[in-house]
Amino acid sequence: MNAGKNPELTDLEIVNRFAISLLQQNSLDDLLWSMAANLGEVLGFEDCVIYLLLGDKLVQKAAYGVKNPAARDIKNEITIPLGQGIVGSVGQSGKTENVPDLSVDPRYIQDEFGGCSELAVPLIADGRVIGVLDSESSRIAGFDRHDVDMLESLANIAAPRIASALAQLAKEEAEQAMLEAKLEAERANRAKSEFLARMSHELKTPLNAILGFARLIMVRSGPDYDPQIEKILQAGEHLLRLINESLDILRAERNEITLEISRVDVGDVVSDSVAMLAQDAEKARVELLVSVEDLQLDSDPQRLRQVVINLVSNAIKYNREQGEVRITARRADGSMAEILVEDTGIGMSDEERQKLFRPFTRFGERQDTVEGHGMGLSISRQILRAMGGRIDVSSEPGKGTRVSVKIPGCRPESVVAAVGQDIA
Ligand SMILES: Nc1ncnc2c1ncn2[C@@H]1O[C@H](COP(=O)(O)OP(=O)(O)OP(=O)(O)O)[C@@H](O)[C@H]1O
Ligand SMILES: [Mg+2]
Repeated sequence: MNAGKNPELTDLEIVNRFAISLLQQNSLDDLLWSMAANLGEVLGFEDCVIYLLLGDKLVQKAAYGVKNPAARDIKNEITIPLGQGIVGSVGQSGKTENVPDLSVDPRYIQDEFGGCSELAVPLIADGRVIGVLDSESSRIAGFDRHDVDMLESLANIAAPRIASALAQLAKEEAEQAMLEAKLEAERANRAKSEFLARMSHELKTPLNAILGFARLIMVRSGPDYDPQIEKILQAGEHLLRLINESLDILRAERNEITLEISRVDVGDVVSDSVAMLAQDAEKARVELLVSVEDLQLDSDPQRLRQVVINLVSNAIKYNREQGEVRITARRADGSMAEILVEDTGIGMSDEERQKLFRPFTRFGERQDTVEGHGMGLSISRQILRAMGGRIDVSSEPGKGTRVSVKIPGCRPESVVAAVGQDIA
């Protein structure tokens, strides 16, 4: 059908113009529509449809001629299964077909144009068919050898560009899907945190009333109060601790741990914590050994106490009878202070150690007999992070555990005093 070809242009110019126009397109859609227009105009084809292979179907993606009545519309868009019709056969075999008389080819699937002959050329990239360029003519034997050569050449130029545009699109879609999944997960997580935070607050109000009235009844009853009241208070305080710890975990998840910085005497924090836990240690027959340097920090005393209490309480809970807990506070590098809590207890495996800071994680048979919710270490780490400090754990099963906590903020006088001690 050489007659339809733009007579002004040589074949080389056609190929050149086609290649340049491909380079100017950004999206897959732009690329396919510009190809369809180019094939129609420069090759002088009456009709042209570009199919892409999506799964096992060839889908019409761009067209020229009667199939394209306006803008980027495809009239009566059809999908052809691989292996069916002439287009489907070319998609399957990867071989060009030039059918001179459609009236004698039973495979022919009539589309809008309703031609007499058809030329279908595969688009092949990396040895794989990715689509088909298809053209029909209103004349019998409408395509000659030259048309076949030209369409194949243009298909060979276009296929790698289409393949990379398809890959880019798939990548963008995957990224978009990932982003949406991430946003959705964040939304769900926020909703969960908000629900839990609200629930915890709602629980605290009646709980504080229960505790308050129980204390009042206890005080009013004088020394002969009903011992059951103590049970109410113990259970209520336990529940309150649990709610407060849950709230701390939520705050930590949302990076909302706030610090109230003031002057902290590390020795005071350690001795307060030890005093609070002395009874527990005695009950568990564990000895507490304390060695503290004179250290002053700019930090949050309440939060630091919370960390030390949890570490020492763990060292007592997961110890053995006649065991020891050694608590040392000393100056570390620069303006860092270090608090060490070492025990002679049950220790833990490396695998357990790695999961230690996950909220609600507890190990071993002690979880049934020893009180705890697996929140202490997770909260401690978040508090230390907020302080700019760190926590490190080393342990040997059956031998014991060593927890080192480093906190920044040593006051200048501590640093000077400690350096003075070293020199002396
Ligand atoms: N010093 C330790 N020796 C052996 N195992 C420990 C030690 N400290 C913690 N663990 C293990 O790590 C788990 C998590 O500790 P974490 O302090 O977070 O929670 P918990 O003590 O169980 O409960 P909570 O601190 O919330 O009251 C413990 O349940 C225990 O199995
Ligand atoms: Mg604990």
